[in-house]
Amino acid sequence: MSRQRLEHYLEQMTLDEKIAQLLQLAAPFYDEVGDEGQITGPMESLGITVETVHNVGSVLGVSGAEKVISVQQSHMKNNKHGIPLLFMADIVHGYKTIFPIPLAMGCSWDIKLAERSAEIAAREAAVSGIHVTFAPMADLVRDPRWGRVMESTGEDPYLNSLFARAMVRGFQGSDLKNDKERVASCVKHFAAYGLAEGGRDYNTVDLSERQLREYYLPAYKAALDEGAELIMTSFNTIDGIPASGNRRLMRDLLRGEWGFEGVTISDWAAIKEMIPHGVAEDEREAALKAIIAGVDIDMMTSSYVHYLAQLVADGIVDEALIDEAVMRVLQLKEKLGLFEEPLRGADVVAEREIIYCEEHRKVAKELALKSCVLLKNNDVLPLNKNQKVAVIGPFALSGDILGNWSWNGSTELTKNLAESMKVISPSNIIIAEGCSIDKITEPQIHEAIKVALKADILVLALGESSEMSGEASSRSNIKLPEAQLQLVQFMKQLDKPMVVVLFNGRPLDLHGVYEEANAVLEAWFPGSEGGVAVAELLYGAANPSGRLSMSFPYAVGQIPVYYNHFNTGRPKPSEDTTEKYVTHYLDIPNAPLLPFGYGLSYTSFTYKDLVLSSNEINETDSLQIKVKITNEGKLSGVETVQLYIRDVSGEVVRPMKELKAFRKVELAPGQSREITFEITEEHLRYYHSDFSFTSDSGRFELFVGPNSRDTMNAAFRLKK
Ligand code: IFM
Repeated sequence: MSRQRLEHYLEQMTLDEKIAQLLQLAAPFYDEVGDEGQITGPMESLGITVETVHNVGSVLGVSGAEKVISVQQSHMKNNKHGIPLLFMADIVHGYKTIFPIPLAMGCSWDIKLAERSAEIAAREAAVSGIHVTFAPMADLVRDPRWGRVMESTGEDPYLNSLFARAMVRGFQGSDLKNDKERVASCVKHFAAYGLAEGGRDYNTVDLSERQLREYYLPAYKAALDEGAELIMTSFNTIDGIPASGNRRLMRDLLRGEWGFEGVTISDWAAIKEMIPHGVAEDEREAALKAIIAGVDIDMMTSSYVHYLAQLVADGIVDEALIDEAVMRVLQLKEKLGLFEEPLRGADVVAEREIIYCEEHRKVAKELALKSCVLLKNNDVLPLNKNQKVAVIGPFALSGDILGNWSWNGSTELTKNLAESMKVISPSNIIIAEGCSIDKITEPQIHEAIKVALKADILVLALGESSEMSGEASSRSNIKLPEAQLQLVQFMKQLDKPMVVVLFNGRPLDLHGVYEEANAVLEAWFPGSEGGVAVAELLYGAANPSGRLSMSFPYAVGQIPVYYNHFNTGRPKPSEDTTEKYVTHYLDIPNAPLLPFGYGLSYTSFTYKDLVLSSNEINETDSLQIKVKITNEGKLSGVETVQLYIRDVSGEVVRPMKELKAFRKVELAPGQSREITFEITEEHLRYYHSDFSFTSDSGRFELFVGPNSRDTMNAAFRLKK
């Protein structure tokens, strides 16, 4: 359909009808869905008429081909222009086939597989009638108290950008119009939502423009560069102004500087929330600020539908602003082919064939295998099938391993850990609940001890329930719940080798677990096939290869703790220093317990012969960095070789290390491989004091290693 046709629609519509295109309603507004739709924010009656509902532009949280078809069909009957509804939903890490949570995906460092997971999620969502997913979440995260770290791929802007791009490619493919098994992608939450003060959800964000541009913006920008069709505002303030009314952010930067032409959408009720934020007296002012800032769709408030028309009539808002926003919504519908096929991919038959099919679950398992991170292993893993294993803890028999934002996932269909271990070792698994997530009783302790005493080795399946992370799920204490720490103590007294498997949505404070256990496997929320994958990892049918994409703090008092920090003017020379006037804590180390990039394997790798092609480059040269990796162990394994750089004398202070490249390499026992990285002047650029994105001549340090801490070092100069 040509732009002229879309303009024709616009000409035919009344101002009220146009404004209704800018409203997004949740599922309960549609009788065909009733209370079966997903509600992802506070519900209030919006005081809108049936006529407005008939003219609404989009709906969120309705899925299932049958439901979507009936809502769309009645909408088409009731909408006098025949403009179809857009169906949007949060398909964050899978639709029904649930993949590991994004933070776990981040730990796979497997960009291709993440793309494949998004493609599958899109396929299942599209046949269920969804047109747009509110993903990827490209928020950089440094504070594990924030429950939404589970939706991010981690703390590094480069890694996050690669994942953001991959997810957009996977969701959208290259031909949204004709490929009905793809959905449009809405990157979120613009901007810097991950920096909520104190890790408390919805809290204030205050950061310098430098921080914003250097760390927080790159992943959103990467998603948009990859073609994401929409972007969602964040709940927080940016420089004192809530994102949904922030003209500098939404219009000047996003549209002006970046040239984004797609749809902008507020987060749930974020326009009206400018009132409690304290930048709007009432909904009228909130609507005014949002439309001027450039927010096209108002998700779940009636600020636009109740006030924009009056603002136009009063000559305060130019109707052209509204037309511009409506045009973008219509263009998106057009790009998705909805004018020709309002039902698009919704297909009850395909739904039965495609959703949760074996092929999809196979990919979910592969990603789960690659996302788990082995945090510690004192030679107790892998398990041996002949060992009597007591699987104890609230996650032994629990299907609650899908993680938050898995609306259509089914915990009943998900094989739990103990069941999956029994498939591998049918007669040697004994089970006890030990405790629930946050309660422990005498009978539970007695049973757990009785079972544990019969075993050669204990596997404690511990963690957070899926509701303990995600939106509105911040925690101040990020240890395991006390009941589980007590269980660890009871088990420890039995003096048996003890493996802890963790199911959780954030880096935890591992005091009370890490020291006590002989091995710790971080499984995160590994998704539909997670139980099976973890069992295979425990028994060595697969070798752990995940690497942390977010640091595990030593203690909450260190937060934020992240690898790409500054040195300060008084760096601490070593962790055991007794010097007073250096940056340090009196009671805890500066370093996290486990750093970014960290993860073990059942085999061991050595790094040797770090060689640079030159000790100096200019603006046109490239530097080759070679390093030899050898698998010194007895099992095949995958190593993630990481390259970091530090500009030791910038115009602006530069981080101690910045990830610039990585390579995953699979090596058989005894095998060696020479890895080559290439660095050019472009890799050395950053925002200078005038915000020009350039590099400095001078000395650079270079680090290669298995994580951001344990590296080999070299140096070179850039000559300009
Ligand atoms: O997409 C989400 C967002 O991440 C948080 N608030 C609700 C939105 C729609 O469900």
